[in-house]
Amino acid sequence: MRAAILCYESTRGCVLANTFLMFDGFPDTVKTSREIVQHVRNTTNQHNNWFKESLPLIASENVLSPAAREVMNSDLHNRYAEGLPGKRYYQGNIFIDEIESVCEELAREVFRCKFADVRSVSGTVANLAVLMATAKPGDKMTAVGLSDGGHISHAKIGALGLRGVRGHNYPFDRKTMNIDPEGTKRLLREVKPKVALFGQSVYLFPTPLKDLQDTFAEIGCTVWYDAAHVLGLIAGNRFQDPLREGVDVISGSTHKTLPGPQHGIIISDLVKEGMESALRRGVFPGVTSNHHLHSVAALAVTLAETREFGEAYADQTIRNAKALAQALHERGFDVLCEPNGFTESHTVVVDVEDHHGGAKVAKSLEDANIIVNKNLLPWDDDPVRPSGIRIGSQEITRLGMKENDMAEVSELISSVVMKSRPPTEVKDSVREFKRGFTKVHYCFFEGEEAYDYPTYDGEL
Ligand SMILES: Cc1ncc(COP(=O)(O)O)c(C=O)c1O
Repeated sequence: MRAAILCYESTRGCVLANTFLMFDGFPDTVKTSREIVQHVRNTTNQHNNWFKESLPLIASENVLSPAAREVMNSDLHNRYAEGLPGKRYYQGNIFIDEIESVCEELAREVFRCKFADVRSVSGTVANLAVLMATAKPGDKMTAVGLSDGGHISHAKIGALGLRGVRGHNYPFDRKTMNIDPEGTKRLLREVKPKVALFGQSVYLFPTPLKDLQDTFAEIGCTVWYDAAHVLGLIAGNRFQDPLREGVDVISGSTHKTLPGPQHGIIISDLVKEGMESALRRGVFPGVTSNHHLHSVAALAVTLAETREFGEAYADQTIRNAKALAQALHERGFDVLCEPNGFTESHTVVVDVEDHHGGAKVAKSLEDANIIVNKNLLPWDDDPVRPSGIRIGSQEITRLGMKENDMAEVSELISSVVMKSRPPTEVKDSVREFKRGFTKVHYCFFEGEEAYDYPTYDGEL
């Protein structure tokens, strides 16, 4: 049994709402350690089965390929490696050195750059490492604001604040859901930041980096691009090419539009002097010790598969997002940025204020096995009551959906939100529709089940 408690935490004018699920004891049948293990196994299986029968539309998630899963679930998980290939602090790394070297080489090839570090264990850890490398406490930085789609690690209440850096937010154009280039130039000249950070968690359109290149040169700042959301699109030659648009360093998660393991990456062309050693030291010993070697192997597999299938996958992901946005718009939803074609990425944002807000809509959709997240929109006054939902096309694309399937996806969403059909009824239609999309595509071993995992037979 669980009880929900809503708690508000005030952080210098920014209010966070946390809903904690309080665990109030094991079920009656779960008492011994053996029963607890069985309970966790069963619950994990329930989760797997639920996702198999659901529409996974969270914009930051994806499914691994079979080959990536195979190496992920290996002895590499049990090992330690600190330092770099050939320069380790432990023995036992002979094969690990080979895997990590292959992974870095693939990253340099896929992202067309001189340098890659694959040791950050998540996107946030990669961001911390870049912060360690590029800014000191007291330095000034510019970034996209939280309610405009910036990530928490770009904010005072996240990694940026932890580093003691002083942050300033770019002026944001709500109509285009992008930074305002002229206002941004003015801000950069006024603030003269040590580091100018770009990239968003709600990322519909490319950042106008080319327009800003002269201003970057004028003030001599380090330009950092957080590609967590759009890394797979960049790898597939879509969205934008930040290293060719004036960016010094890119950080990212490797498990969103890049359909790899939960991990992080840093890439650069090392234009700025001292960048290589600063980034290496930022990662280790800066913010990591061991770097999750099974994930490095899975990332190597993902990058090799991206080299093969990445363009087709990125292309279809964006086509699907556009088709989904159009289909939702045709069903009466207030999809953001219609005049600009809704989106150029994997993400679609819908204002659902007229349907009791993002939280209510996301919960109703979850009851129908449609998984999306509530999202703050730039005009929201109340940070605990977001008026939007964010929808991502990257996982359903990986499962083989094409543009013409987006009509059905939007119809299912509409059944719950517009037509107020009971979510439990819609759930049956979702299950039925999803039956045709449970296998992984754009990878080797194509067509293997995405949500079936090997298990030991029987109860403990
Ligand atoms: C822009 C951006 N940066 C960083 C992160 C953090 O990534 P991770 O969850 O891998 O730590 C996210 C997560 O969604 C993000 O949207």
